[in-house]
Amino acid sequence: MQLLMKTTACLAGILLVLASVHSPAQTFMTNIQGRNTISLNGKWKAIIDINDAGIGNWTAIWKDRTPSGKTDFYEYSFDDGPVLDVPGDFNSQLPELTWFESSVWYKKTIDYHKTGKRVFIYFGAVNYKCDVFLNGEKLGSHEGGFTPFQFELTDKIKEGANAILVRANNQRVKDGIPSLGFDWFNYGGITREVQLVETPPAFIEDYFIHLKKGSTSEIEGWVKINGGSAGQPVRIQLPEAAVDYKTTTGDSGYAPVHFPAKLTLWSPTQPKLYNVLISTATDKTEEAIGFRTIEVKGTDMLLNGKPVFLKGVNIHDENPQRRARAWSPSDALQLLTWAKELGCNFVRLAHYPHNEYTVRLADKMGIMLWEEIPVYQGIAFSDPAMQDKMNYLLKEMLRRDKNRCATIIWSMSNETSPGRDRDKALAGMASLCHTLDPTRLVTAALNHVKYDNNTVTIDDSLGNALDVLAVNEYLGWYRPWPAAPENMIWKSAFNKPLIMSEFGAEALYGNHGTADTASRWNEEYQEQVYKAQTAMLKTIPFLKGACPWILVDFRSPVRMQPVYQKGWNRKGLLSDQGFKKKAWYIMKQFYDAMPW
Ligand code: GCU
Repeated sequence: MQLLMKTTACLAGILLVLASVHSPAQTFMTNIQGRNTISLNGKWKAIIDINDAGIGNWTAIWKDRTPSGKTDFYEYSFDDGPVLDVPGDFNSQLPELTWFESSVWYKKTIDYHKTGKRVFIYFGAVNYKCDVFLNGEKLGSHEGGFTPFQFELTDKIKEGANAILVRANNQRVKDGIPSLGFDWFNYGGITREVQLVETPPAFIEDYFIHLKKGSTSEIEGWVKINGGSAGQPVRIQLPEAAVDYKTTTGDSGYAPVHFPAKLTLWSPTQPKLYNVLISTATDKTEEAIGFRTIEVKGTDMLLNGKPVFLKGVNIHDENPQRRARAWSPSDALQLLTWAKELGCNFVRLAHYPHNEYTVRLADKMGIMLWEEIPVYQGIAFSDPAMQDKMNYLLKEMLRRDKNRCATIIWSMSNETSPGRDRDKALAGMASLCHTLDPTRLVTAALNHVKYDNNTVTIDDSLGNALDVLAVNEYLGWYRPWPAAPENMIWKSAFNKPLIMSEFGAEALYGNHGTADTASRWNEEYQEQVYKAQTAMLKTIPFLKGACPWILVDFRSPVRMQPVYQKGWNRKGLLSDQGFKKKAWYIMKQFYDAMPW
C-alpha cells in the first residue's frame, strides 16, 4: 500500500509539472510569498503598440535599439514615453488605453549583482499573452491571463545593468480561454506582481501537504526538489503540532510525505492555520497551511464530517472604486470584508483564478472558496489544441493554490453548451483534477437545465463527472417566473448536492420605483427578485449552497444600456462605490436566518 501511495503521489506531482510543456514559460515555484525575493514592482517604461508591430523584425521593439549613428532612425522608443505602474492593468492607467486591446511593451532596467545563486523572474499574471525578453534575447512566452509563470535567468543575466522587456497583449482570440465573448472588463497588462527570486542550486520547487483523503489525523503529499540528485533529505516541521518529519527525494526529485498529526481542523468558525516549515540541506521555505476535509455524501456536503451549507456570493477580481483589476492585499481585504458582512462563509471567485492575496486572506478569514478557470461560454471545444490549453491552465491554478485550505471546489467551466466535444473535454478535465488533487470537489456552472412550467430539471450529462452540481438561473430577470416562486419544483437526475451558483437582477443604486415596474433597473425590482429567489431556494431539498450574482457592480464592455449601465453590470448587491442596495438586506436576512 505504501508503495502504491508513494507512486500515486509522485505521479500527481509529475503531472503538475507537465503544465510547462504547453506553455514555453516555465512552471512556477510554489509559495513565492514565502521566499526571499527582489521586487520588480513599480514604474516600468512603456510603448503602446496598437498594430503589434514591435514583435517583428522591422519595428523590432524587442531589440530595444536606441539611435547611435547619425543615420539611425527609430519611431519607437521607451525613453520619454509613458510610464506604467506594475502591478496593475494598463487600461485604468492612461486615457488612451481605456478600451485598448492589443500590445503594450514594458521595460524595466535592473542593476543585478551576481551571488552564485540561481535566479528566476516570476510573474503573478499577465493578461492575456506575453513574450518576455532579457537584454534583447527572448526568454519565452505565456498564454493565460490569471496564473503565474517564471523564467530562469541564471545563465543569461549579466553583472550590472540588465533590460527586461515584456510584450503584453490582451486581444481576445477565438482559441483563447476565455474566448472572444465574456461579461467582464478585459483588463490587460502586467496585472500582478513581478519578482526576482534567488535560490540555491537545489531548491524546494513545489509541494502538496494535505490531510489524507478520509482521515483527520494523517498528513500526506509530496515535496519536489529542483536540482540536485536523488537521496536528498527533506524535513517538514509543524512546530505547534510537535511534528518533525524527515523524508528523502527519489530519482525524479520527489520526496513522498506521510505522517500522523494531532490537529485542530480549519473551518469558517475556527480558521486554524499551522506554520509549516519545509527545509533541505540548502533551502527552506515556510507558510501557513490549514487542514480540513471536504466531501460529498449523497446530496450533503460535509466539512470535517459535518453537513455544511455554503452561504456564498460571487465576486470578480476587480476594485470597482479604482475601476481596475484587483491585485493587492487591500483589494482582497475590501472584497472579502464585504462578503463577510453579507453573512457569507463561501465565495465563488468568478470566472478565473483571482490574485493570490485574496486566496491567502480567505484562509485567514475562514471563507471557503470556489476557484475556476475561464472556460467560459463559447469555447472552441472541437479544436484539439484546446484540450491541452485547458489542461495546463487547470494545472497552473491547482499548482498555485493546492495548499490553500479555503479552496474547497475547483470548477471546470461556466455555462458551456452540452455536446459531445464539450462533455468529453470537461469530463476529462474533471478526471485530471481528481488525479492531481484527490482532496477537493469538482464542479462546473451549468445553465442548460430544462424549464417545464413550474418544474426545473437538472439533467446535463456533464453532471455525471461532477461531485457537486451548480446551476446559474435568472428567474425574474432573463426568464419570467412560470409560477409562484414557492411553487417551483426543482428535480435532479443526480443524487448530488446543488449550489445555485448564480441568480440575481440589475438595479442602479439610488434608482427607485415600484417592484412591478416593467422598466426594471430600480432597487425595488431587484429586491423583489431576491425575495422571490430566496423563497424558491428554501424549497429545494438538495440545495447545499447559494451564490447570488454578484457582490458588487462590475465593469463590462457588453453592458451599455445608456441610462442604467454605461459600461457596468449592475447586478451587484452593492453599488460600484460599495453602497448597499435594498436587495442586500434580503440576502443577508436569508443567511442570518440559517442555523449554521
Ligand atoms: C451569466 C454569466 C456571468 C454574467 C451574468 C449576467 O450567467 O455567468 O458572467 O455576468 O450571467 O448576465 O450578468
